[in-house]
Amino acid sequence: MNRPTDVRELLFGDTWEYSPAPQSADFADYRDQYGHFIDGEFVEDDEYFESVNPATEETLAEFALADASTVDRAVDAARDAYETWQQTPPSERAKYIFRIGRMIKEKSREIAVLESMDGGKPIRESRDIDIPLAAAHFFHYAGWADKLEYAFPGAEASSIGVCGQVIPWNFPLLMAAWKIAPALATGNTVVIKPAETTPLTAMKLAEIVQEAGLPPGVVNIVTGAGDTGSAIVEHPDVDKVAFTGSTQVGKVIQRAVAGTDKRLTLELGGKGSNIVFDDAPIDQAVEGIINGIYFNQGHVCCAGSRLLVQENVHDEVVAKLQHRMETLRVGAPLDKNTDVGAINSKQQLDKITDLVEAGVEEGCELYQPSCEMPDTGYFFEPTFFTNVTPSNRIAQEEIFGPVLSVMTFRTPDEAVRKANNTPYGLACGVWTDKGSKLFNVAGELDCGVVWGNTYNQFDPGSPFGGYKESGFGREGGRQGLLAYLELDET
Ligand code: NAI
Ligand code: MG
Repeated sequence: MNRPTDVRELLFGDTWEYSPAPQSADFADYRDQYGHFIDGEFVEDDEYFESVNPATEETLAEFALADASTVDRAVDAARDAYETWQQTPPSERAKYIFRIGRMIKEKSREIAVLESMDGGKPIRESRDIDIPLAAAHFFHYAGWADKLEYAFPGAEASSIGVCGQVIPWNFPLLMAAWKIAPALATGNTVVIKPAETTPLTAMKLAEIVQEAGLPPGVVNIVTGAGDTGSAIVEHPDVDKVAFTGSTQVGKVIQRAVAGTDKRLTLELGGKGSNIVFDDAPIDQAVEGIINGIYFNQGHVCCAGSRLLVQENVHDEVVAKLQHRMETLRVGAPLDKNTDVGAINSKQQLDKITDLVEAGVEEGCELYQPSCEMPDTGYFFEPTFFTNVTPSNRIAQEEIFGPVLSVMTFRTPDEAVRKANNTPYGLACGVWTDKGSKLFNVAGELDCGVVWGNTYNQFDPGSPFGGYKESGFGREGGRQGLLAYLELDET
């Protein structure tokens, strides 16, 4: 194990110390127990489960556990509401969607704190990225609601019906926004289930939806785990299923929906590459690599979890990466200095640990900086491996943690071949000084998103989605409307 404990001291002496800058959680208001949000009301259920704060391992709140009969109630409410919602004038629908976006903005400080407490992500990220982007998504789709007739020339667009939506724990509120905003703009109604480790901000959103006066039943939020998710997916009165999560569950859902006339979109896993050519601005690329894999502890479907670096700059890039990693601060999600927060759950920490052990056993060389680690909670050191070959497990499987696999290439063709050598196809980054090279390589990559000299940039106007085992369908922008519309040629 290559772990130079004295590098930080060598680099910075003892002058590079941050005093803690904790974000107060005093104003964050949440209940001990939440029911489901069905037909505009919070309703209780027989069973409850706990969601913990992964940085402290303490229980944050209890949430109702929906079984098939509760899901049935929610789908019924969504069906009833659909009759009027689909007839509601589009500019009226837009007002509600806009109002939800505005209320998220108004409560953004509080929601950011809750998001970090329930999921473990650094407050800097929930405050500056997750919550503003969630609001932006509602604003964007509010704008589309009354322009659907112009969005697809030559076709008449109509709504689909009741949408069953299941989302993961890595961007809890943002994924809820990605699912709910386009569905409402297009005149559909929704039954959505947040992930079992991060349901808190979804229930905050339920409060916002209620306060915004959205007609009852248009948005229903039920909580629970995989069984609740499959009850939604398999419900006969659900017309459209939208899922974001693991490829494994995505395949189960695809089988469940096969042979029915349900519409389906899947946004699944990834094994993205950052491709760094020798003519790239190296310092900038190193920032992009860091952002690509350590943002949100690497719990990102489009994470740049593989680094493909041109062989002649490998040593320089790796040295700069080590240097930069010495400044990463791992710790309390609510500390404004924190760069890498808590791993979302014990289960996810175990998975990351197993895969990192597999990397070591397969002969890859591990590097971890000499950062201080918290004593309690689920944390994992920012890590990278060199001496990785494309067949190693850490080069093939989605780790969904702060772990990077570094490989080399000599020619653009080899870079493309290696980048495409994965069952996934979600995102890549290309780093070069030459625009023509960037566009040529981007065109050869089998993935939904290619970033040029940057990484992990999101905008509600820009479609996002995958190829191969990363799923199908697009979210965001005009293309994101298609998943929620029936188009008839005129
Ligand atoms: P998961 O895919 O099981 O969970 C995602 C959502 O699906 C949750 O809301 C869960 O309750 C629900 N779900 C689980 N089983 C279901 C079923 N049979 N039918 C309907 N819904 C179901 O992901 P999990 O177990 O939390 O994480 C396992 C691995 O999946 C992670 O280690 C990571 O590699 C990957 N993952 C990838 C995500 C992505 O966005 N690419 C998101 C979450 C996990
Ligand atoms: Mg939690």
